Amino acid sequence: MNKFILSFLILPLFLFSKDSNTVDFAREVLPVLSDKCYACHGPDTKKKDLVRLDLEELAKKDLGGYHAIDPKDLEESELLYRIIDEEDPMPPEDFGKTLSKKEQEIIRQWVLSGAEYEEHWSFVPPTKAGIEPVGNPIDHFIDAKLKEEGTNFGKEADRATLARRASLILNGLPPEPADLDAFLKDNDEGAYEQVPQPPTCPQRLWGTYCPLLVGRGALWGYPRAPSR
Ligand code: HEC
Repeated sequence: MNKFILSFLILPLFLFSKDSNTVDFAREVLPVLSDKCYACHGPDTKKKDLVRLDLEELAKKDLGGYHAIDPKDLEESELLYRIIDEEDPMPPEDFGKTLSKKEQEIIRQWVLSGAEYEEHWSFVPPTKAGIEPVGNPIDHFIDAKLKEEGTNFGKEADRATLARRASLILNGLPPEPADLDAFLKDNDEGAYEQVPQPPTCPQRLWGTYCPLLVGRGALWGYPRAPSR
């Protein structure tokens, strides 16, 4: 099927799979709370008397006639006033960080939609996205993101380039001429899988893993060489 038509069939599913008024807690809300609020309202705060915003139960508890997040009357949540309060804003002016308009909006939408706290993604069982995979499912997500940015997949590279990439990744070396010829003649969809992967190949080890080791070395080096 034409890729163009296909994307029109799939994209709406992708776009409307979520209510457009809800924000993603882990991806959008938590980074803001943790960067702009938790220093004082989080687990490591030194100001123990301040309302905790990292735990749902505490964030929604009665503070003496009002709530930081009011589960019964979300619009009356004190938090909503404080993030736009010009005289006494949150975070406070001397904190050195402010909320951008976009961040204010994210927090506002999250509170108005019930201020649900989700568990860290690593504890949440994965669920299938509401798309019907045709071809490589990963391409659907990449395609959707590219469309969002007003662009499209580039042209697929020629087969010699593809063979070179596959071989470099798998073996750490460009393909042998004979292997390349075999690949170019093989028009099967699974031709990639035939790119030789020698079972015991020292070059492969060095070619593939050495850069990884060097990368690791650079990582381990960090604490001792903070300027790198
Ligand atoms: C540098 C510390 C600091 C940061 C960061 C900070 N706050 Fe506060 N917050 C305070 C202090 C101190 C108070 C209590 C005094 C007051 O009400 O102004 C307070 C009070 C509040 C209150 C009212 C709670 C009550 O008991 O009346 C809310 C709601 C609130 N902050 C929300 C936030 C939000 C949301 C963020 C992040 C966007 C944030 N704060 C970031 C220090 C901070």
